[in-house]
Amino acid sequence: MHATFIPPIALDFDSTTPLYRQISVWFQRAIRAGQLRPGQRVPSTRALAKELRISRIPVQSAYELLIAEGYLEPFVGAGTCVCQSIPDAFPRPGRDNLPTTTAVIDSPPRGRRTVSRRAAGMRGPAQMWLRECHGCTDLQHFPIALWSKLVSRHLREMSSNIMGYGEPMGYWPFREALAEYLGAFRAVSCHPSQILVTTGSQQALQISALALLDPKDEVWLEEPGYPGTQQALKAAGARLVPVPVDGNGLDLAYGIRHAPRARAIYVTPARQYPMSVTMSATRRIELLSWATRNGAWIVEDDYDSEFRYTGNPIASLQGLDADGRVIYVGTLTKVMFPALRLGFMVVPKDLVETFVDLRNATDTVSTPVLYQMAMTDFIREGHFSRHIKRMRTVYQERRRALAEAVRLQAQGVLEVVGIDAGLSMVVLLPSGIDDVEVAHGAPRMTIGVFPLSRCFAAPPERGGLIISYANIDPKEIPAMIGALKSIVESGRPSVRAAGNAWRQRRSCA
Ligand SMILES: Cc1ncc(COP(=O)(O)O)c(C=O)c1O
Repeated sequence: MHATFIPPIALDFDSTTPLYRQISVWFQRAIRAGQLRPGQRVPSTRALAKELRISRIPVQSAYELLIAEGYLEPFVGAGTCVCQSIPDAFPRPGRDNLPTTTAVIDSPPRGRRTVSRRAAGMRGPAQMWLRECHGCTDLQHFPIALWSKLVSRHLREMSSNIMGYGEPMGYWPFREALAEYLGAFRAVSCHPSQILVTTGSQQALQISALALLDPKDEVWLEEPGYPGTQQALKAAGARLVPVPVDGNGLDLAYGIRHAPRARAIYVTPARQYPMSVTMSATRRIELLSWATRNGAWIVEDDYDSEFRYTGNPIASLQGLDADGRVIYVGTLTKVMFPALRLGFMVVPKDLVETFVDLRNATDTVSTPVLYQMAMTDFIREGHFSRHIKRMRTVYQERRRALAEAVRLQAQGVLEVVGIDAGLSMVVLLPSGIDDVEVAHGAPRMTIGVFPLSRCFAAPPERGGLIISYANIDPKEIPAMIGALKSIVESGRPSVRAAGNAWRQRRSCA
């Protein structure tokens, strides 16, 4: 019996895809599309090679592969057929949509495609604020030559330390160096055995949410607050209770009124993100004692407190905690660079095992040991504190220039809020102006502009812009402020109308 058809395979001889792969892909797709039916005989390798004007070798290789994958089956003395067991109900693209040799069949998805309720609830501003801040840290002043030297020092040794999984909680000498640094500069009270190395604060927030919360547990989080925290908590299925921030930090009384049984509280006490408020000593003590009385956990995200330009760095909340209520989260993203993916958490002693178990569910270890080793040297040899000191001057100068430009060029239109610290600044817009529209209209520069309203769960009274100045070219400041001012002042109907529409949308949601 002969095959009743000759496959219309259009080989691409210039392609980097080998001929046998092009042929096998054609057959796979033709079978999946229903163009070739179960049991149907296919041409002999000789006939097909002749038709395609190529040697038999690639055709033989393609058939061998298709037989191994279960698309074709050979019959001694009777040639090769499409496998009988290929189900007729195989999900098929439309029959008119027959494959060419290498083109991907782009058919609409079929059948039910239900994702978890949790995943569906995640839709919202993705991590775009991170992209907007162009790296978030100054990259020009980073001592890259020194860093490469430290990395290659360890890379050359090629020890099993570097090539293996390493310790599940992180490289011990790195944790020792961190414990010393945190004790001396952040008043964190901990032993290295309580430090869990992560790929950044985001992973730490995620692990803490999974370790501390059951689905539907209520959690207080700052309003406005860090969108990454919302994402981590939503992913854990928690019920988010936004709690406003006043001049002393999180409004504890509001939280108690609205969710007295909250299981956890997420805060940024040193420099509230994004409003830059420092949590007062009274509020800290009240928060800690409320958490102790009510068996709640506190997660302290201490993401950029190295950069405080007046006075000494604010001490951590964890250092005040006598009851092991606080999980301290830190990151090297701001001091080093975001792609390093190196963060850490300080976990109360009795929770260490639980956290390690949860971490193992997300990944066995985190950032490559190589970088933890290089980072240990960077801290131990004094480069870390020198780099922080130097960057403090650079960032302070940028912040000053930005604030000055707002004062000189945009007084009455843009209003700077917050303390003299950090790597981003909030400017408020006149009420009724849609900050999403303004941010969208801002020219693409080294200065990152992100709408403040995206950090709110409910529509804010006034919109604003979060301006990231860490990696800017200072020469661009006047042009950027000028542009923002004219977008706002132009009073473009779209800016106002969109603002109102946005507010309506959000309040209906
Ligand atoms: C409040 C806050 N936490 C954490 C981070 C950094 O996260 P990661 O360590 O995951 O890079 C940022 C970055 O902008 C932040 O603003």
